[in-house]
Amino acid sequence: MADLLLRPIVEEEFPAWSRAVSAAFGAHVEHAEDWIVEYDRTVAVFDGDEIVANAGAFTFDLTLPGLTSTQVAGVTAVGVRTDHRRQGLLTRMMEHQLDDVASRGEALAILLASESIIYGRFGYGMASSLMQIEVDSSRDAFLPRIPITGTVRPVDADAAAKTLPAVHDVACRQRAGDMPRVQKWWDIYFTDREKDRGGASARFYAVHESAPGQADGYVSWRIKQDWDSANANNQLRVDEMVATTPEATAALWRYIFDVDLVGTVTAWVPLDEPLRWMLSDPRRMLTKNIHDFLWVRLLDIPAAMGARRYDVEDSLVVEVADAFRPSTAGRYRITGGPDGAECARTTDDADLALDITDLGALYLGGTTATQLAQAQRGQELTAGARGRADRFFATSPLPYCRTDF
Ligand SMILES: CC(C)(COP(=O)(O)OP(=O)(O)OC[C@H]1O[C@@H](n2cnc3c(N)ncnc32)[C@H](O)[C@@H]1OP(=O)(O)O)[C@@H](O)C(=O)NCCC(=O)NCCS
Repeated sequence: MADLLLRPIVEEEFPAWSRAVSAAFGAHVEHAEDWIVEYDRTVAVFDGDEIVANAGAFTFDLTLPGLTSTQVAGVTAVGVRTDHRRQGLLTRMMEHQLDDVASRGEALAILLASESIIYGRFGYGMASSLMQIEVDSSRDAFLPRIPITGTVRPVDADAAAKTLPAVHDVACRQRAGDMPRVQKWWDIYFTDREKDRGGASARFYAVHESAPGQADGYVSWRIKQDWDSANANNQLRVDEMVATTPEATAALWRYIFDVDLVGTVTAWVPLDEPLRWMLSDPRRMLTKNIHDFLWVRLLDIPAAMGARRYDVEDSLVVEVADAFRPSTAGRYRITGGPDGAECARTTDDADLALDITDLGALYLGGTTATQLAQAQRGQELTAGARGRADRFFATSPLPYCRTDF
């Protein structure tokens, strides 16, 4: 393995690299023009002239608790060819990539995991989650007392392409864990390829306006036809629900529940999704799935902790263990509040002892020190420190990322 060469690819090597990336996910390259590649962030491991392992990263500006933001690496395109798996190639790529991310001055890396078992060993913590809901819309309705204001109107894809990005740009700065999308991402989104439809229709779109010309929310969805019985029982699959005000959220959900000939509505939503509280029969909203979404790997703890804001003023000393990158381990004092924060190494007594994965999980406020402690993760070294950490790191709304990368 030692003689395998690891390096970024150059543009001419994109066909081979994209084939390797696709094959790792059981696919063939279709629509090579849809790829967004930052070449200097790619990783390829060459065995002779063949690519046998691959990775990449996007440069994102991640929204943080307190609605600040910081540049991060969004790790993507990770794979190892079947005949080279379980020989340490992923480990080698992760070492290389985390060094590269740190050398760019980025305090953390994020990723979405194909399997949740993979990345904990490299110091990534489970930082945000999402759930899939299904509502029997034929037997449920909105509470009459939920006020519906503004107007929701359907728009075609061309009109949506002009309206949605600006709404998203605002909404993604209202929640930790989210980030803006580059124009090419939107261009690809609006191609709405048949292969991405899961057997359902092309997207439909509707936009909420609080006043004429003031778009502040949108919803996109697909319809999976079902006319097998005498009565139509279509499934409405919400693709994206993005709103910048609670009024827009309520109006858009109401619109979705008004679409005729639909039996069930499905959607992926944050864990603190308010829809249940808008329904007359909330038990009809079933949670079909709940799982991890963003994973956070802290690399520069002082920079990362100093970049976010904290719900209450406090100062906590955390002893951090980091088996994969021992240089990150150590004791840090984090002092902060709603208006600012700083963090530096310290020799003061520690209040809490945490693994780097647990600090990564706490970073966006997607869990609490108490929840981790109940899972036997983390140690309280000063009486009351856990409760203080709960309040300090708390984030509302919960972190949520809308972009699948
Ligand atoms: C996941 C994948 C990249 C792992 O690559 P790899 O080179 O085999 O990983 P490594 O040899 O460096 O494994 C390091 C350790 O992680 C473990 N590991 C890696 N992937 C694992 C998996 N999917 N399930 C369980 N354990 C896994 C290995 O067993 C090894 O454990 P050990 O240190 O105790 O021996 C590879 O299996 C793959 O390409 N999978 C399909 C694509 C994919 O899922 N990519 C991830 C996208 S987010």
